[in-house]
Amino acid sequence: MKKMSVVYHSGAGHTAYAAEKVVEGAKSVAGVEVQLVEIGKNPTDWEMLKAADAIIFGTPTYMGGVSAPFKAFMDESSKAWYTRDWQNKLAAGFTVSGSPSGDKQGTLQSLMTYSLQHGMFWVGYDRLPEVYSGVAPEKARNRLGSFSGLMLQAAQTAPHESFLPGDLASAIDFGERVATVLVKNIR
Ligand SMILES: Cc1cc2nc3c(=O)[nH]c(=O)nc-3n(C[C@H](O)[C@H](O)[C@H](O)COP(=O)(O)O)c2cc1C
Repeated sequence: MKKMSVVYHSGAGHTAYAAEKVVEGAKSVAGVEVQLVEIGKNPTDWEMLKAADAIIFGTPTYMGGVSAPFKAFMDESSKAWYTRDWQNKLAAGFTVSGSPSGDKQGTLQSLMTYSLQHGMFWVGYDRLPEVYSGVAPEKARNRLGSFSGLMLQAAQTAPHESFLPGDLASAIDFGERVATVLVKNIR
């Protein structure tokens, strides 16, 4: 059984809701055990992260980058960096913003560089944006056309009603993608 951790911060619950969908997708893959870890809820369990085979990082985009609590987690992980605890694990990332762009690329770039500093293998999002196949934008997976990681947009409403159906399907799809790569090396 392969182990995956989905580690996220969420200020107002949107990234938390997305993280649950990522986990749903990952759990649909046989042979993968998934743990959901909210930064700040409990002290970070560094031993659990050390034992994981893959870590998916999730953060809202705040001011064009990762949120402050997520950055604090990143900085705290420098101990694990020094001892190479995450060397050769799979890594992937997702982010949620309010605007269609919202400068989310900066956030994913930061997560990718961070993962590579840890010696991890970065897994992107492989889904061809389904708008190219004629799927209506609100139902299309990878609506925002991001390949370096999962990008989602949330309206300023309660988390469960703030995402388009296609964006929620993207989150499930992305979790499945990373879990499948973890088990089979390919999707
Ligand atoms: C401090 C702060 C900074 C933000 N900066 C951005 C931004 O740069 N781009 C954007 O599109 N949305 C921005 N937003 C909106 C959030 O990304 C959006 O509301 C997101 O759904 C929040 O996720 P959360 O509920 O998990 O915290 C910002 C929100 C806050 C509170």
